[in-house]
Amino acid sequence: MRKLIADNFAFADSQYHYLINAGLPLDEMPQSFNYTTNKVTGYERTWWCTGFYPGNLLYIYQQTKDESLLPEIRRTLKVIQPNENYTGNHDLGFMMFCSFGNAISILKDASYKKILFQSATSLSSRFRPHIPAIQSWNKSKNFNCPVIIDNMMNLELLEWVSQHGGDRKFAEIALQHANTTMKNHFRSNYSSFHVVDYDTSNGTVLQKKTWQGYADSSSWARGQGWGLYGFTMMYRFTKNKKFLEQARHIAHYILNNPKLPIDKIPYWDFSDPKIPNVPRDASAGALIASALLELGQYTSGKEKSNYVTNAEIMLQSLSSPGYRSKLGSNGGFLLMHSTGALPFNSEVDVPLIYADYYFLEALIRYKNWYL
Ligand code: GLY
Repeated sequence: MRKLIADNFAFADSQYHYLINAGLPLDEMPQSFNYTTNKVTGYERTWWCTGFYPGNLLYIYQQTKDESLLPEIRRTLKVIQPNENYTGNHDLGFMMFCSFGNAISILKDASYKKILFQSATSLSSRFRPHIPAIQSWNKSKNFNCPVIIDNMMNLELLEWVSQHGGDRKFAEIALQHANTTMKNHFRSNYSSFHVVDYDTSNGTVLQKKTWQGYADSSSWARGQGWGLYGFTMMYRFTKNKKFLEQARHIAHYILNNPKLPIDKIPYWDFSDPKIPNVPRDASAGALIASALLELGQYTSGKEKSNYVTNAEIMLQSLSSPGYRSKLGSNGGFLLMHSTGALPFNSEVDVPLIYADYYFLEALIRYKNWYL
């Protein structure tokens, strides 16, 4: 694993120089690669993924000390900084914590702290106290007040701010959101629905649906990963045992699922009846690996080694030619074979910026905790 991790970071450093030089408009962050046009695709700053690119550069810089990455890190942080005031959806945690959160710890630049504080204020504006939960997306023809399992990830921003001198109310909101999610998003086997739709006046559940998964009743792979990561992270901050228990149950569901392939990289949805003839989701594999490594920190004995061994297999798979791109190919992204939103035929079996993010994060976690 030591060699695999070192090799991956050397590769990532070289490979990301292709991405840096991909020629995207300066106000866009790289998202994926279109194999037909041979072009990197990007999004402007309010897309939920725009914090991952600076986050990836920061992780690579931390591990390689390659100072040639610094101008691009500073430039892209500046591009997304106005998101601190964005209140159009719940994704502030993804956008601001994966970027500025890492900038604070890796660049040791405390001036970024006030940006996270403002981001927490913006995110909290979407808290609906009668549910109680943070509203993910705005009202639409499909949903009244949708809350998606992904939203667990945004709680890290709120918890961090409260624990670093910010208002305690942010942690209280995170706690209430996690409790509501635990109550309404999970089935008896600890798989999760993607979307729970609420009445904001009294918290009545109006519907339980999917958006990016195979069916309302299915287990969308990345959603299972968001839940696992989210409850493990909530245990880190709160030390509340019920969150640890929830994370263990989710891990059990994922790791014992008969549809989890031998290389441990999930198909895009555990319930797609066409498995094995459906796309994988490397982003789910990377995310689950990272979460399992943290769960390993809070468990012991056989249980711990089961989490770590599974994460190790995931990282070995992702590092193999089956998933990891060749230098100079794949638009400069590290991983192939992720799936964004298959029901919309969007980003199917392609590189995705956040697959790279959780892959790099998992490698760092392994190095810091298990080598
Ligand atoms: N948060 C959106 C997704 O996982 O695709």
